[in-house]
Amino acid sequence: MPSVQQPERSQTPEKSPRLPSPKRVNIRATNSASSIAHYVGPCLNMQKRAILRALQSLPDTRADEGDEDEEQPRNGIVMQQLDDLLKATVTRGEGNSCLLLGPRGSGKSRIVERCLANVPQKPIIIRLSGWTECNDRLAMREIAHQLFQQTGTAYSIDENDDTDAAGEDNPFLDTIETEQNQLLLPPPSHLPALISTLPTLSRPTIVIIDSFDLFALHPRQALLYCLLDTVQSCRAGSGRSALAVVGITSRLDTTNLLEKRVKSRFSGRTLRTAHPRVLNAWTGLVQEVLSTPLPGNEDNEEHVETWQSSWKTNIDAFISDDAVETLLREVFAVSKDIRLLRNLLMGLVLQLTEDSPYPSASHLSAVISAQRLRLQHGELHALPYPSLCLLIACMHSRTAGHDTFTFEMLHGRFTRQVRTSTAAPVQVNGGSVGMVRCPRPVMMGAFEEFIASRIFVCVMPATAIVSKEFIKYRCTVEFDDLRKAVARTGHAHLKRWMNKPQ
Ligand SMILES: Nc1ncnc2c1ncn2[C@@H]1O[C@H](COP(=O)(O)OP(=O)(O)OP(=O)(O)O)[C@@H](O)[C@H]1O
Ligand SMILES: [Mg+2]
Repeated sequence: MPSVQQPERSQTPEKSPRLPSPKRVNIRATNSASSIAHYVGPCLNMQKRAILRALQSLPDTRADEGDEDEEQPRNGIVMQQLDDLLKATVTRGEGNSCLLLGPRGSGKSRIVERCLANVPQKPIIIRLSGWTECNDRLAMREIAHQLFQQTGTAYSIDENDDTDAAGEDNPFLDTIETEQNQLLLPPPSHLPALISTLPTLSRPTIVIIDSFDLFALHPRQALLYCLLDTVQSCRAGSGRSALAVVGITSRLDTTNLLEKRVKSRFSGRTLRTAHPRVLNAWTGLVQEVLSTPLPGNEDNEEHVETWQSSWKTNIDAFISDDAVETLLREVFAVSKDIRLLRNLLMGLVLQLTEDSPYPSASHLSAVISAQRLRLQHGELHALPYPSLCLLIACMHSRTAGHDTFTFEMLHGRFTRQVRTSTAAPVQVNGGSVGMVRCPRPVMMGAFEEFIASRIFVCVMPATAIVSKEFIKYRCTVEFDDLRKAVARTGHAHLKRWMNKPQ
């Protein structure tokens, strides 16, 4: 076979190396199966690329078929409501506030981005996040910075007005660090002045606050108060620009976190997003993504057509496979986050090779098991005797109420146990049948290995005053895991010590 292909490639150096021109290789002349085999590699790569691209911007999940309660998916309704609200702000000058609430990965950010893309006139959009703007002063800086980027006018401190302002530097925009290596931040007293500039701008403003609940934890909720107060004072037809505040959160009790004066200014409008409720939404998405068509071009049109028809047949078979449905149902029962499905599909596509170019239930099963959390300490049974002794001593120390321990404590427990087990006057061939003794340095070596592998975690700062035998540690292994591991070793003395009541 290679000897046949070689001359063809050398005859057409100007053509794409992946797909030789159909003029030179007559696909119809050979039988269909062998021609597909010939182009399967390049076509598969193109198909993989197309699917991975489609995974970056997933299509919408369809209306939940089989879910009689809902004619339209919940997120579709939320998108419509948010769209209306933002349009009302931009076109009619209404001040609006709302909270987008839903579990993680339920499409909150996606809905907001889509609605922002639909807003007719180009409003000023300010994006804040509770994770990055962890106090109001950082948020003020960010607001001023984004305003500057979108309007071209820098908000600056009137030096005569405020003595807190630091000289010539504008703390709203500069990244100058003070002598204490701290970022120069605007004084909090400027917050009302900064927020009150928003309605004076030439265009309406939309403020998106991600992780809204974290802003409610800022002292006095000053930023939320100022923003929502300004929203409330927006009057349509007053000649001032409107302001909309959209909070995004996954925390259910967010409105309860708001202080009374802030809550009274918030509209209370909560839009709830949700994950798809039935498996059909997932299978529909899987089918749509996997059936992504290939971009055809003149050179390879014929081969792509052949490939696509066989790909389609195989995808249909994959989707209707009962084993695939069971696997998807199991995952869906654990998590309905579409990001998980996307990871699975990505893994599934990357697994395909020329030898097995079509997805199957076994591919899917392999990807799902790769996504599962591995046992934290799966190989405990393979540990050497001194290490297992230390862990058992550790468990007994925990049962006795000492969650933290030192090497001396564990070593003491071990030597006591060895003494007890060898105390019985039973000997075989002149040797004791009790537990084997281990020299102290060996035990210390095992202890240090546990520290290095983070199975023992230090709970106090390392200090030169305390010698290493007396530094306190905590064990990350669970009792049950160790019990199973000891049972698996088949070591009778260790089993007996493990199950010994303290
Ligand atoms: N209904 C849907 N149809 C298709 N894809 C969706 C849908 N909902 C969410 N996604 C996808 O799931 C991913 C997560 O969505 P998004 O970031 O909007 O969730 P989120 O609710 O903002 O999550 P978080 O709370 O973690 O910020 C995105 O890639 C998005 O495209
Ligand atoms: Mg989000």
